[in-house]
Order: sequence, then structure tokens, then C-alpha cells
Amino acid sequence: MSRFLSPKHAHISPYVPGEQPQDMQYIKLNTNESPFGPAPGVAQAAAEQAGKCNLYSDPECRAVRERLAARYGVAPENVLLTNGSDEALNFIMLAYGDEAHPVAFCDVTYGFYPVLCRLYHIPYTEISLKADFSVDVEACKKTAGALILANPNAPTSLALRRDTLEDMIAADPNRLVVVDEAYVDFGAESCVPLIAKYDNLIVVQTFSKSRSLAGARLGFAIGNAALIAELDAIRCSLNPYNVNRMSLAAGAAVLDEDEWYMENCRVIMENRQWTAERLRAMGFSVLDSSANFLFAAHPALTGEALYKKLKARGILVRYFSAPRTAAHVRITVGTRQQMQALVDHIGEILKEVQA
Ligand SMILES: Cc1ncc(COP(=O)(O)O)c(C=O)c1O
Repeated sequence: MSRFLSPKHAHISPYVPGEQPQDMQYIKLNTNESPFGPAPGVAQAAAEQAGKCNLYSDPECRAVRERLAARYGVAPENVLLTNGSDEALNFIMLAYGDEAHPVAFCDVTYGFYPVLCRLYHIPYTEISLKADFSVDVEACKKTAGALILANPNAPTSLALRRDTLEDMIAADPNRLVVVDEAYVDFGAESCVPLIAKYDNLIVVQTFSKSRSLAGARLGFAIGNAALIAELDAIRCSLNPYNVNRMSLAAGAAVLDEDEWYMENCRVIMENRQWTAERLRAMGFSVLDSSANFLFAAHPALTGEALYKKLKARGILVRYFSAPRTAAHVRITVGTRQQMQALVDHIGEILKEVQA
């Protein structure tokens, strides 16, 4: 630590992203990206904007906001564009959390929530998932502070129904509820239709997963116009040109390709089912996924051991060493070919360890 760092940052613990090794070509099933390249018009739309990079991007992100509003049946005033959905979460924490305004989230969930709380000195409560990794709805209702729920949850892949979430949102109109729907397009119910009814709800989504734009960094928040205006004020206080020209063009182009995106989601869901069946047949317990990944454990191998053996064979998955998750690996669902390779290698690994 240098002598210049503010003491308030002496104990931050940054988020550790999934590895992106460059040493060889891996089958990459570790960061929940889409295995499919961007939609047909995306590369050209982004390239055209690359030629105009001497000019700032539209600070109001109008082309994408208008398309998103039309797509989700809300007004443009209900939509905020961000540099990945991580930035939407960042703005939300900055706007609504502080020493006197705590936050609550599940003990097994997206690792960025506690990172942001520590950065901003926001006290937080971790609500234990039940033994089967499902969300303890009653405990969520009882815990004080703004509630952040990933739905589907990561890394568990389990989703709550919209009526269960509505029950939590309606339970206390003076409590902010943030539903992080990064993976919602893979089979869960979105809370966006509840926005018109509840002014204590913010839904966060991303273009990184179902829309194949992880590298473009594009996310968004949808909520009541007053909440969105507050988040926009935070945005303009930090970085008014938070989304660059190429990403805005890519986002608009992919929103014009709804059938392409829905077909990709369908293929991922089919491959998820195919893979889960094969893993279960090999003795894995696999949670019922509503996301583009599987959370699986095998009695013969820890998550770390399986991760290492797969990496040695050129396949990357992710494991989380905390006690509750250490038995599991999180496997991104890729193409059928990638999943076939995964299943074949796991079969060989199990033969080795069980010999
Ligand atoms: C639950 C959840 N929320 C948000 C994000 C952030 O995604 P991005 O910043 O790429 O939109 C992720 C990334 O993996 C995630 O798993």
C-alpha cells in the first residue's frame, strides 16, 4: 500500500473475475459468456461507429433506450444504460447505500455485491440459502436493508417465480428491492412487468449473456422514473459518456435481431438439459438451472479437483472455495460440441479417480 491511499480503502477486497488465460485455446465454460458470436448486424454497426470515435457518444443513449423501452413495454424514462450491469449495481449501491442504509443479499450469490458494499462502507447482511440452495424467502422478508436478489441466482442457477418476488417487493413498500436478472432470458420470469406497480423495485439486466455482448460492456436498469432519474444523476456525476459509441451501436443492432437472440437462448436451454442429464447419469447432483450455466457436484471430486483436471485437459470451468460451494463446479453451457467434449473428459476423469 502506498502512503497516498486513503485509509478508507485500506481493506477493500476487489472482485476476482473468472480467468481469461492466453496461453492456449481453451473450451471456455467459466464466465457464463455466450458461445455464439454477436448478431449479424452487430460487427458492421460497431465498425461504422469506430470511424466516428473522435466524437463523444450520446450521453442519453437514446437509440438503445428507446429500443429497450419498446421491447419491455416501458417508457424511455424507465431505462438507464450502463457500462455492463456491474455499473448499474455500482450506481445503485452509491445511490441507496451508506452507513445508515444497509443492504441484504444471500450468502451464496454474485460476488460483486459484498465487494461494492465494502468499497462504499455499506453494512450488509448475508441471508443463508436453505440447505438445498433455494432462497429463504421468509428470512429475506425479515432482514433489514435494501434487498438485492440475483434471479436466477449465481452460481446456484436456481430461480424464484415472479409471484414469490412480488410477495417480497409488496411486503414493505419502503424497502428497495433490486432484482438482478443477468440470466433471466434462459428460462426465468422477469420482474420488469412489476415496475409499473411498485416504485420500490429496480430490475437490472445485461447484454453480456443472452445477447452475446460481454466484451461490449452494456447493461441496463429498469425502474420507476424517479429512481432512474436518481441513478442517472449518479451516472452523470461519475461518467456521463459511460457507454461508448461502438457498444451503443452494437446494442441497438442486437435489439433489432430478436429472433436471432431467442433462438440462441433456446439452443442454450436445450444444451443445458442435454448436459444435465449426462452429468446426472455419471453420479453428479445438478441443480435445476434456469440460467446459462449448471451448478454440479460429484461425490468423488471436490470442485477444485475437478476444475484442475478439466483445465489440464483444456476445459475451463469455475469453482468457489467457500465451504458451502466447495463441492461444486459452475459450468457455462456452450455449444453442443463443447458440451460433448466436457462430458467425454469428465467421463475419463471419473474413470481415473475411481479406478
Ligand atoms: C448475477 C450477475 N449479475 C451481474 C453480472 C455482471 O454482468 P455484466 O457487468 O457483464 O453485465 C454478472 C456477471 O457475470 C452476474 O453473474
